[in-house]
Amino acid sequence: MSDLLRVGLIGCGNVVSYGHKPALTTLPDAQLVALADITPARRQIGKTWFGMNDADLYADYQDVIARDDVDAVAITVPQQFRRQIVLDALAAGKHVLSEKPLATVPAVAAEMIHAADAAGLTFGIVHNYHYLPEYRQIKNLIDNGTIGQLRVLTMHYLGVIDNPGAAEYQSDWRHTLAAGGGVLMDMIHAVYLAEWLFGAPPQQVMAFVDAPTYAARHPQVEDLALVQIAFPTGYATIHMGWGQGVGGVDASGSEGHLRMRYNQYQTSGFNQPAELYTVRNWERTDHPLDNLPTHMDNIARSFTQLWQEFHSAIREHRAPLASAAAGGRALETALAAYQSGVTGQVVTLPLQSTNPVFQKGIDGLADVQAWAQSRTQSAGIFGLK
Ligand SMILES: NC(=O)c1ccc[n+]([C@@H]2O[C@H](COP(=O)([O-])OP(=O)(O)OC[C@H]3O[C@@H](n4cnc5c(N)ncnc54)[C@H](O)[C@@H]3O)[C@@H](O)[C@H]2O)c1
Repeated sequence: MSDLLRVGLIGCGNVVSYGHKPALTTLPDAQLVALADITPARRQIGKTWFGMNDADLYADYQDVIARDDVDAVAITVPQQFRRQIVLDALAAGKHVLSEKPLATVPAVAAEMIHAADAAGLTFGIVHNYHYLPEYRQIKNLIDNGTIGQLRVLTMHYLGVIDNPGAAEYQSDWRHTLAAGGGVLMDMIHAVYLAEWLFGAPPQQVMAFVDAPTYAARHPQVEDLALVQIAFPTGYATIHMGWGQGVGGVDASGSEGHLRMRYNQYQTSGFNQPAELYTVRNWERTDHPLDNLPTHMDNIARSFTQLWQEFHSAIREHRAPLASAAAGGRALETALAAYQSGVTGQVVTLPLQSTNPVFQKGIDGLADVQAWAQSRTQSAGIFGLK
C-alpha cells in the first residue's frame, strides 16, 4: 500500500455530512475513490460533496469492495446492516472502519472481530468522542493525577437531541427494533468513554431502562437509560436520555473532583464545552478549553483526527486507539444494561456466549427471566409484552 489511503465509503447519510466528509476532503494522505449507497438521492449528494465521477458511484457495496484501488472501507450504514458488509470487505482484503455501534448483536461483533484478526487486517470503529477537546482534557487531567485516583464518574447525557436520519432514506430508523436499542445504543459514546477514562474494561452493569418521553407513541425502544457500571478501580454512572435534561461530566477522585458543562446547558456532541474545572483541597482551578469556532468544527476535527490515527494504525500494523474490540465491549455493556432493566439483576461482563442477549441482542431479552417490577417490561419496548 502506498502512503495514500484510498477509501471506499459505504453509506452516505448524515454522519458523512459532518464527520467523514470534512475528514476525507482535507486529509492530504487519504482520498475517497468509490462510494456506495442504496438510495439514489444520497449517491447524488455524495457525488457533489466529494466531486466524484458517476463511474465511482454504486448502488451495491460489492462494487466498492471489488475495486483493487480501494485500501480501506468506511461502513457508515445503520448498524443492523453491518455484518455482511464487514465480512465481505475483510474477505476482499480491505481494512475496515465501522461506524458505532459496531453491531446490534454481540455474537455478530465477535464474529467480525475474529474475521479481522484472522485476516490480519485493521478493524477500527468511529469512537470519535476520544478526540473531542473536553474529553481529551478530562483524560489528561485524570491521567496526570489532578484529582487523585478516579473513583466515581458521572456522565450526564440527558439532553441528547433526537436528530432524525437522512430524509431521503428512513429518517426514523433509530426508533425501530431493528436498530438494536434506542438512546443508549444511539449515543454509546458515553460507554466507551467511561472505559477509556478508567483504563480498564467494565465488569458489572445494573440499570433502569424505560421510555417515558415517547410513551404516547408506543415506542419500540428506550428513550431513557440510567446505567451503573463497575470498573476494577471505580464506578461510572451514565444517565442517557432523549430530551432537554442535564449534560456534562462530574468525576470524583481520591484527592479532588472535576466538572465539565456545555454551552446553552446542552449535552456532549450537541454543543461546545463551556466550563471545565477541578477542585483540590476545596480550591477551584479553571482549565482553558481547546474549542474551535463552533461545535460542528469540534466534531469535524474529531473525525479528522480519528481517520489520521486509523491510517497510522494500518501503517504500523497495530490496533487503532478506537478498536473494534473496544466497540464490541461497548456494545455488550449497552446490552447488559438492557438485560439488567428486564431482570432487575446485576449483569456480569463479558456476557457469556450462551446468554440469549449475547446471541440475539434485544431479541434475546424475551428469553431472560423478567423481574415483576421491570419498567422495561411494562413499557412494552424491545418487543416485550
Ligand atoms: N460517530 C458518531 O458520532 C455518529 C453520529 C451519527 C451516526 N452515527 C452512526 O452512523 C451510522 C449511520 O447513521 P446516519 O445518522 O448517517 O444515518 P442516515 O439514516 O442519515 O444514513 C444512512 C445511510 O445509509 C444508506 N444505506 C442503508 N443501507 C445501505 C446499504 N445496505 N448499502 C449502502 N447504503 C446503505 C442509506 O441510504 C443512508 O444514506 C449509524 O450506525 C449511526 O449510529 C455515528
